[in-house]
Amino acid sequence: MRIGILGLGRIGAFHAATLASLDAVDSLVVTDPVAAAAAAAAERFGATAVDSPQALFAAGVDGVVIAAATDAHPALILAAVAAGVPVFCEKPVARTVGESLAVLRAVQDSGIEVHVGYNRRFDAGCVAARKAVLSGELGELHTVRSTTLDPAPPPEAYIAVSGGIFRDCSVHDFDIVRWVTGREVVEVYAAGGNRGAEYIAAAGDADTASALLTLDDGTLALVSNSRHNARGHDVRLELHGMKDSIAVGLEDKLPLRSVEPGATFPAGAPHHFFMDRFADAYRAELTAFTEVVAGRTPSPCTVSDALEASWIAEACTRSLAEHRPVRIEEVRHGMAEVGRA
Ligand SMILES: NC(=O)c1ccc[n+]([C@@H]2O[C@H](COP(=O)([O-])OP(=O)(O)OC[C@H]3O[C@@H](n4cnc5c(N)ncnc54)[C@H](O)[C@@H]3O)[C@@H](O)[C@H]2O)c1
Repeated sequence: MRIGILGLGRIGAFHAATLASLDAVDSLVVTDPVAAAAAAAAERFGATAVDSPQALFAAGVDGVVIAAATDAHPALILAAVAAGVPVFCEKPVARTVGESLAVLRAVQDSGIEVHVGYNRRFDAGCVAARKAVLSGELGELHTVRSTTLDPAPPPEAYIAVSGGIFRDCSVHDFDIVRWVTGREVVEVYAAGGNRGAEYIAAAGDADTASALLTLDDGTLALVSNSRHNARGHDVRLELHGMKDSIAVGLEDKLPLRSVEPGATFPAGAPHHFFMDRFADAYRAELTAFTEVVAGRTPSPCTVSDALEASWIAEACTRSLAEHRPVRIEEVRHGMAEVGRA
């Protein structure tokens, strides 16, 4: 099959390398407003570089991977849907839930499959954790902790169009908490602050944030994020039930140094970046997308599914700004009111 890639920045170039190595993919067509980025990918992966999304759709692609900056996602998804081409789009669907709702309406009416890139759903540890929770072997859950700590903040230009830490980073934690527990979030209480990069504070964003989520069965989930974790890319998920407790990410490359005398764990070199931590998961999710393009399976993470994580991000953004707990129904209801106005 012939796959188009829109956006050849950090993750787009990484996805290009993965796609080029998949048996199911015969050829790649790439585009980026930064022509040099598309040209570099074309040279490295034997892809065809074109100068616009329109030219990419005209090149006869069977599916497209959108890895452009977040603010470009809605228009590119809609262009792919109009062209009748199945889409893989990096998370999040859009900067705000309002824009995501507009995309949802267009996609639902089209019948075109859209797969949103919540890669942790393809991480072997997260898959095992979901199985453990759903099988009942942990007993009733009472506490979940989901952690995402980046070694260094993304560049200023990225922050400017990212939508803020809850919509850009914590949204991975919100999605995986829902997916692994099989529960919905009903209320959030969020806090955030700035300890590092001045351009993040200047953009009105937090570089470090936490959110306490109450799930619909009373389970408490604590999400912890920072753009500053010098020791490495730390992604963990811990689940505590009445019968057992398990952890994802508790392995030798965990970027956490024990100061217990005699402790030798974790013994390995820390994960440096998300490409390193999730290389296998990205490969699995793009392989799954080729199955979607081939028509053998429906999208494993639809726009509607992805939107649920966006509602949580929206509630956290409001909670931080207004310094109070926010129920998910409050933000959903508010958006419905806007839609009617
Ligand atoms: N799933 C994950 O783990 C993961 C990791 C990193 C980034 N992301 C997501 O991927 C997206 C890109 O992130 P990044 O870190 O690669 O950013 P980046 O800034 O490195 O790259 C973005 C690229 O998009 C290009 N672009 C902008 N508008 C475009 C358009 N209209 N058409 C085509 N290309 C366009 C830019 O020129 C740039 O090359 C973001 O939405 C981000 O949230 C997801």
